[in-house]
Amino acid sequence: MAEQRDRMAEMQEQDQRIEQNLAMIKYRIAVFSGKGGVGKSTVAVNLAYSLLKKKLKVGLLDADITGPNIPQMVGLSGMPEMMDQHQILPQIKDGLRVISIAPMIPKDQPVIWRGPLRSGTISQFLADVVWDELDILVTDLPPGTGDEILTVSQKIHPQLAIIVTTPQEVSLLDCRRAVNMAKKLSIPKIAVVENMSGLICPHCSETIDFFGTGGGEQMAKDLDVTFLGRIPMEKQSRECGDNGTPVVLEYPQSQTAITFNEISGNVINLLKK
Ligand SMILES: Nc1ncnc2c1ncn2[C@@H]1O[C@H](COP(=O)(O)OP(=O)(O)OP(=O)(O)O)[C@@H](O)[C@H]1O
Ligand SMILES: [Mg+2]
Repeated sequence: MAEQRDRMAEMQEQDQRIEQNLAMIKYRIAVFSGKGGVGKSTVAVNLAYSLLKKKLKVGLLDADITGPNIPQMVGLSGMPEMMDQHQILPQIKDGLRVISIAPMIPKDQPVIWRGPLRSGTISQFLADVVWDELDILVTDLPPGTGDEILTVSQKIHPQLAIIVTTPQEVSLLDCRRAVNMAKKLSIPKIAVVENMSGLICPHCSETIDFFGTGGGEQMAKDLDVTFLGRIPMEKQSRECGDNGTPVVLEYPQSQTAITFNEISGNVINLLKK
């Protein structure tokens, strides 16, 4: 009984610290999808930098326990600074404040944890990260509609869920689930991004309708949520992701960077509505 009371007090104290840390952040965005590999992390990284280029103070939180890819994608290595055991400071890369759950989980090992352990780790992480004053925090989540999304949603209270899909029917099917999950979680604003929407040929720059286009927009209409835009599949985008040089910074004239610029404008308008 006493043990149970101690645990309850510990959880309350943890929730208080999460609240304190998030109190400095005006808008919080959760990026997720029903399906893996559709470009959530790519969207989270480039959206964050695109918002930063609009002179906003932006943070990027990598809450993907099973595959924390953000450090690789933004070119960050090493450990974040720890003020003490319970205070981790985000790292700063090209003006963006970035923190990943990666250092908290075993390196190069699969995370074979059940839901409660994954949720507990995320909660502890959220309680320990000390954010500065921010205009927007973008959170990258693992694929699917599992415990992590539930935990992040309950703890950080995002005002906007961005659900990433690719144009294929199998992805759209999972995307519908993710939209409906965001509705069930009562996230006030829900929006869809269609990624890999047309392939830009690296030789002739023609757009090839590789996976199809338009399914994301139609689905957003059907489910009565906002459609933010279509991001093409572009060789530089993949290279930049692998090299840790986000495409919106490295190739600001590319179709992808131009599209992210439009999408981040739409995001700001949506948040301010
Ligand atoms: N529009 C694009 N053009 C070219 N490559 C892309 C594009 N979007 C994503 N990719 C590439 O596809 C791969 C998967 O993207 P990403 O890691 O962003 O997906 P994810 O949804 O976060 O995956 P996971 O579900 O594993 O977290 C990466 O190599 C990335 O660089
Ligand atoms: Mg990812």
